[in-house]
Amino acid sequence: MPRTEFIATGFHVPERVVTNDDLAHIMDTSDEWITQRSGIKARHWVSDGETGATLARRATLQALAKAGMRASDLDCIVYCTCTPDHFEPGNGVFLQRELGISDIPAIDVRNQCAGFVYGLSVADAWIRAGQYARVLLVGAEVHSRGLDRTTRGRDTAVLFGDGAGVAILGPTDAPGRGVLSTHLYADGRHAEKLWVDAPGLAHDPFISAELIEQGKHRAVMEGREVFKFASVLMPQSVATALQANGLTPADVTLLVPHQANLRILEMVQKAVGLRDDQVYVNIQKYGNTTAASIPIALHEALCEGRLERGDLLVLTAFGSGFTWASAAIRW
Ligand code: ACO
Repeated sequence: MPRTEFIATGFHVPERVVTNDDLAHIMDTSDEWITQRSGIKARHWVSDGETGATLARRATLQALAKAGMRASDLDCIVYCTCTPDHFEPGNGVFLQRELGISDIPAIDVRNQCAGFVYGLSVADAWIRAGQYARVLLVGAEVHSRGLDRTTRGRDTAVLFGDGAGVAILGPTDAPGRGVLSTHLYADGRHAEKLWVDAPGLAHDPFISAELIEQGKHRAVMEGREVFKFASVLMPQSVATALQANGLTPADVTLLVPHQANLRILEMVQKAVGLRDDQVYVNIQKYGNTTAASIPIALHEALCEGRLERGDLLVLTAFGSGFTWASAAIRW
């Protein structure tokens, strides 16, 4: 059975950069507080006319150019997001339309920060089974329009940013290379610890002035609980991925974790027992871009020459649900 390889990656973030000092002008916060708690210095926010699908399109065109492919060469779109452009249909079809193609399937994966690794697992299964040979895997988010950008929402508004990252995946027969394993987890007992309550069909009506007045359409988070679980479960998922393949932390060339929060990443690094050069961090520039953070980080790591053929790449992610995941990939 073939394994799945990464053929090319791409990413795109909006031009508009919002620094911590910019945020301090619109809410009661400071560069010092944000930097100390999260490591974030800036994030990108969309401007008029930009949507998740338009960001994803730009990222996809970059990856297609790198791969020497056309959009019509794609067999399937797996689109991971928790901030879709519309309630329905999913964003995969909007991206498909933006790319000027039709007649290929498009599926949305709604697993928040763990979305990209969940999506990778889905794409990997299809590729190994021979169902699709060229899968476009997308992580894309537009958080800024959903954030409460006032002092009331400051605990979450300062953390999240907009952006898109993609990977084009396909089968390889090269011995030992490709996605070695993926590991997916969920624990719905914690669903309300990081969630957006409305709009939602659990409410009747599913959206109302009252729900909006109550701020139910905003992401709310029990930050300390998220921190506590993420800093234990992310390293656990890395350990599982290594054990499943008979590997140790010393074998890891690069861990590309979901860029949740620098303090979480530091705890993950310590718990797994990795050196600084084994962990890729770019949260300072982009904030937490949820499903987009791993493909954006992976693309930047590749551009910096941090991965060579035969290197071991490990991914780990944790987020709302709670859902978390890891993957081991022989590059
Ligand atoms: N600027 C200034 N002050 C703030 C801000 C802000 N942006 N946000 C909250 N505060 C204040 C609070 O009001 C509180 O003030 P008080 O003591 O007067 O009540 C004080 O700072 C401390 O608030 P806490 O919420 O207790 O702050 P904490 O030290 O726990 O840090 C944080 C909050 C950064 C969210 C932390 O809990 C955390 O890192 N959690 C992890 C969650 C995370 O990073 N999630 C990312 C998304 S999920 C994921 O990707 C896995």
